[in-house]
Amino acid sequence: MAKKIFVINGPNLNLLGRREPEIYGHESLEDIAVLCRKVGNAHNLLIDFRQSNHEGQIVDWIQEAIGNVDAIVINAAAYTHTSVAIHDALRAYNGYKVELHISNPHLRESFRHTSYVSTAVDAIVAGLGTMAYELVIELVHDVLRNSTKPRSAL
Ligand code: DQA
Repeated sequence: MAKKIFVINGPNLNLLGRREPEIYGHESLEDIAVLCRKVGNAHNLLIDFRQSNHEGQIVDWIQEAIGNVDAIVINAAAYTHTSVAIHDALRAYNGYKVELHISNPHLRESFRHTSYVSTAVDAIVAGLGTMAYELVIELVHDVLRNSTKPRSAL
């Protein structure tokens, strides 16, 4: 059975390509989704790529992943810096989890220096631009391939 990865994107990431391109680049979120699916297909991984501007929706998706999905890649965007609810949901999910940021929040405003996501995930990738998504899918493929543990029990 193909392994499944949720790629969850938070608020304003639907505006990628148009939103502060000097920080976030020129690729749209759909461009990124296409590339992620391409990398996923090459490795027989199912990529379920999602975006929401709503915190509760993101919590619901993380809960949906429990027992159903092998890994979560999450760019919680601004909720990274505020959301205890997303932190708690991620803690409840036992599969492999990666926090992703296009920019490096530590080089930006001080309110971006706190992440409620970082302490609930296995790995953090930041500052690589939009290509981080493809690289992280490769990483997750490698981690899942080398794991003998069952879905959501890494
Ligand atoms: C971001 C960084 C966050 O601080 C910001 O609120 C975003 C995007 C990134 O991908 O660099 O919306 O998560």
